[in-house]
Amino acid sequence: MITVRVPAKVNVQLGVGGLRADGFHDLANVFFAVALGDEVTATPGEGVTLSCTGPDAASVPLDDTNLAARAARLLAAHHGIEPGVHLHIAKSIPVAGGMAGGSADGAAALVACDALWGLNTPMDVLLDLAAELGSDVPFALIGGVALGRGRGEILEPLPVTGTFHWVFAVADGGLSTPAVFRECDRLRDEAFVGSADQGAGSGSAATEVPTPDADAALLAALADGDPAALAAALTNDLQPAALSLRPALADTLRAGTDAGAIGALVSGSGPTCAFLAKDAEAAAAIAKALTGSGTCRTAHATYGPVPGAQVQPGV
Ligand code: C5P
Repeated sequence: MITVRVPAKVNVQLGVGGLRADGFHDLANVFFAVALGDEVTATPGEGVTLSCTGPDAASVPLDDTNLAARAARLLAAHHGIEPGVHLHIAKSIPVAGGMAGGSADGAAALVACDALWGLNTPMDVLLDLAAELGSDVPFALIGGVALGRGRGEILEPLPVTGTFHWVFAVADGGLSTPAVFRECDRLRDEAFVGSADQGAGSGSAATEVPTPDADAALLAALADGDPAALAAALTNDLQPAALSLRPALADTLRAGTDAGAIGALVSGSGPTCAFLAKDAEAAAAIAKALTGSGTCRTAHATYGPVPGAQVQPGV
């Protein structure tokens, strides 16, 4: 039996560039791995079967659409073997919450099956397989803090000092990532058509957006271990789209700021909201205030950065 622990992510910068011909967007995506995570346990089995426990377990698909099942099959196919595994997912990461929970389970399944089947797949091969599974899966393998370029899969680990304290406010129900990217494009086109009325001509603005760059002030804040500077530099280009689809998230962001958060943003494509706290004590107080605020289902205090998917010793 192999148990792998895997982190969720928050994007401390999510710069979204133009819509590409393949339907993805070029990103400047600064991933940050947090201790709020899932555990995936692999035991020998027939074919690939899944089970799941946790508060959101009812909304986790247990068929071959689950990234954990797809990861097991992809790894087996890569090595030309028949997959035989039961994967149990102990789920703490919000489902469809903008924290890459499904991607985390895919990464954990790659590592768990690799160990269970004794394959010793090199990390660069696991990263390639992870990129086939989804844009956020490679980061869940490496964890820490990293800049993701391309559609998010081309990773460069970033220097970071110390520990940052976070609170995550979990919403009722998820948001579809493709729907949030589509809304981002729609809002960009709408703004462009607005300006075209002033004589700029018409067309699709969504494809014309230049590829964003990592923000130097944000990278310095991470390297210096400076929460106030990081709070000031947090950005998410998907936030207007998430707020457009779920206007009530503005109340959640305000509730966290009122409770003392030094920074607040929607996590990835949402609807989870992320709050940066000045220390662990402040994070606990913000989580308590948010839980009682009526603006979210629940809130968790956590910290990061933490490593990527790792086999748990002695389990
Ligand atoms: O790569 P992944 O399967 O996680 O992406 C899910 C969806 O999110 C894509 O089909 C696409 O609609 C959107 N996406 C995007 N640009 C990215 C990453 C994801 O438009 N860089």
